[in-house]
Amino acid sequence: MKKLFGNRYMPTYCSKEAEAKAQDCMKRGMHMPNRKLLRTQEQLNGIRESAKINTALLDYISENIREGMTTAEIDHMVYAFTTDHDAIPAPFLFEGYPKSVCVSINDVVCHGIPSTKEVLKSGDIVNVDVSTIYKGYFSDASRMYMIGEVSPEMQKLVQVTRECRDMGVEAAQPWARLGDIGAVIQQHAEENGYSVVRDLCGHGCGVRFHEEPNVNHYGKAGTGMVLVPGMTFTIEPMINMGTYRVFIDEDDGWTVCTDDGQPSAQWESQILITETGNEILSQ
Ligand code: MF3
Ligand code: CO
Repeated sequence: MKKLFGNRYMPTYCSKEAEAKAQDCMKRGMHMPNRKLLRTQEQLNGIRESAKINTALLDYISENIREGMTTAEIDHMVYAFTTDHDAIPAPFLFEGYPKSVCVSINDVVCHGIPSTKEVLKSGDIVNVDVSTIYKGYFSDASRMYMIGEVSPEMQKLVQVTRECRDMGVEAAQPWARLGDIGAVIQQHAEENGYSVVRDLCGHGCGVRFHEEPNVNHYGKAGTGMVLVPGMTFTIEPMINMGTYRVFIDEDDGWTVCTDDGQPSAQWESQILITETGNEILSQ
């Protein structure tokens, strides 16, 4: 059949060099993302706007979170701030999730449901995970907070997990591989005597909440999908002090806890792969 238009793989704003690089990778049979995962300029503008609100929301929580507060109060802050910015909290009613934010304390790995009965107390390490929909575009990021006097052991877990996230972001370079991200995170966590949660991963994020690819926080360098400019995804390692094994609370169907009851920490960034490196969208 006669070809009616030149078919480019890369979005139109990308350089000829990037297009040539992508074509070369495909010729070599490397695992490339579906081109639908490469954001158009219009999508990028929308995702950046969403991410800006999401980061401002985390800043707002950083200023206001304190000992004695209930996790339901954090939920109210998230709902009010987000809707005041004409945005929607992405978790709300996502697959039936009942609240606007996930708040995960100590041995809760992720997906902690805010409650009027749960009070932040001195010594707690708390992950607040926020996700925003703005004009149909999605953003997602989380931070850790230390309440009052936290033990040196738990402070170190929080710090090393942040380093794992930062090293994962640093490894997320154009034409690198997904496995490069997991490998540096796993290496740094295990060097410090910690373990990487296997059952939950980072994810493509921008046009939908959770999309391809899965971003594992463990793995082998030089393996997996090629990281192509235009991809947007999260890196959100969950690092445990003890076993990597986790379970889901049967009563609520959401709360993920460590098997051994030891603490877990998580930091999450959403990034864009660019031709020269990466851009942090929200963290
Ligand atoms: N924000 C989480 C993530 O990082 C997803 C939460 S889904 C929810 O992917 F339904 F629990 F909110
Ligand atoms: Co996420």
